[in-house]
Amino acid sequence: MTLRWVSTGLVAVSALMAQNSVIKQPINRMAPSVPSPQNVVEKMLEAAKLKAGETVYDLGSGDGRVLITAAQLFGAKAVGIEISPKEVQASQERIKTLKLDNRIQVIEGDMMTADISGADVVTLYLLTASNDILRPHLEKSLKPGTRVVCHDYPIRGWNPVAVEEIDAHRRPHKIYVYEIRAKK
Ligand SMILES: C[S@@+](CC[C@H](N)C(=O)[O-])C[C@H]1O[C@@H](n2cnc3c(N)ncnc32)[C@H](O)[C@@H]1O
Repeated sequence: MTLRWVSTGLVAVSALMAQNSVIKQPINRMAPSVPSPQNVVEKMLEAAKLKAGETVYDLGSGDGRVLITAAQLFGAKAVGIEISPKEVQASQERIKTLKLDNRIQVIEGDMMTADISGADVVTLYLLTASNDILRPHLEKSLKPGTRVVCHDYPIRGWNPVAVEEIDAHRRPHKIYVYEIRAKK
């Protein structure tokens, strides 16, 4: 995702939002459909110390690669929340073909209102500004000990417990790991 996408995207999003105020339908696009490279996905789940039997939520699950990797390589269960019906259908078909539909669920919906309280690990590949919007929902919904892992775009105001880097598609990708602390 480039700065050019961000500025073009913001113009498009404002135009949609202006239109939206007329048609009164919620549109909450937090990021474009750009998949994380496979080696980045694996590194994110490793960095989160994902264990067999735990549940990963990928917020904006795209083609389902994070969910599939969590189930196939880590023995985890996985839930994807995805707003694009096209991505939901394609990922569900792939998951069914791989016979992983007993361990992976893809829900068509908005991550801002989805019930994410069952997560042990949450994965995100959203813009930093979108993370700002999502942060209160994460803080309200996630139980202490849940790990939140971000690809490339950090969560402002949170302190990562680890930051890792891995090369893919001829550039370094950053991985930020956070842990939800017990409320005081
Ligand atoms: C950058 S892609 C990341 C895909 C996948 N998580 C990965 O890392 O490969 C972001 C995804 O978020 C989805 N998305 C955007 N806004 C959303 C929202 N409000 N609720 C759920 N999904 C959303 C997009 O349709 C897109 O598939």
